[in-house]
Amino acid sequence: MWRRVASLSPLISSSISSYLNQAAYKFKIWESFTTDIPTQAKGGLFSKGKAPFITFVLGGPGSGKGTQCAKIVNNFGFKHLSAGELLRREIASNSEYGAMILNTIKEGKIVPSEVTVKLIQKEMESSDSRRFLIDGFPRTEENRIAFEKITGAEPDLVIFFDCPQEEMVKRVLNRNEINAVGTVDEIFEQVRPVFAGKVFLAS
Ligand code: C5P
Ligand code: MG
Repeated sequence: MWRRVASLSPLISSSISSYLNQAAYKFKIWESFTTDIPTQAKGGLFSKGKAPFITFVLGGPGSGKGTQCAKIVNNFGFKHLSAGELLRREIASNSEYGAMILNTIKEGKIVPSEVTVKLIQKEMESSDSRRFLIDGFPRTEENRIAFEKITGAEPDLVIFFDCPQEEMVKRVLNRNEINAVGTVDEIFEQVRPVFAGKVFLAS
């Protein structure tokens, strides 16, 4: 079960910095293969009978993974889970981990794997779907190992949207991506220039 550690590592470490110097953007697909039966977490993901079909979707901001996930959902009936979105939802719900998650994200760090994996697992278990796209996960090798340990499941497919940094920056700037973590006033300082420019042009 552990032999794919090596094959997935370069993908995970391909965060923004290593997108540099990429000649063309493309996506890559790894079909997972294993002859091992993962150790099943009791009453976990396998308790509903049929094992879920799990896809990890990786790629930087602006790589198009969110857009393509929506298309996969429409065409193939997958349930889309975004790790970042689940973490933000947890912050908004004022749960016991909310403050810790907020601080971790604000510092630009990775939330402890156990917390993220449990959020993903809860979401999968409460879904009627048996096909999942897990977007923005794993971010680290430790994330991936924790997923296998906690859920007892492995990804059936890993899709990596490999996009050169220059292209991602262009797309993200077009999108006015606002970092929505912070105080109301901090966030408004990012929102203000977006509108200020428009009002100036219109007046
Ligand atoms: O993927 P997204 O940009 O929405 O993630 C927002 C933040 O959530 C990340 O910058 C990181 O701090 C946190 N995160 C994490 N572990 C993940 C995914 C996201 O800690 N697997
Ligand atoms: Mg996203």
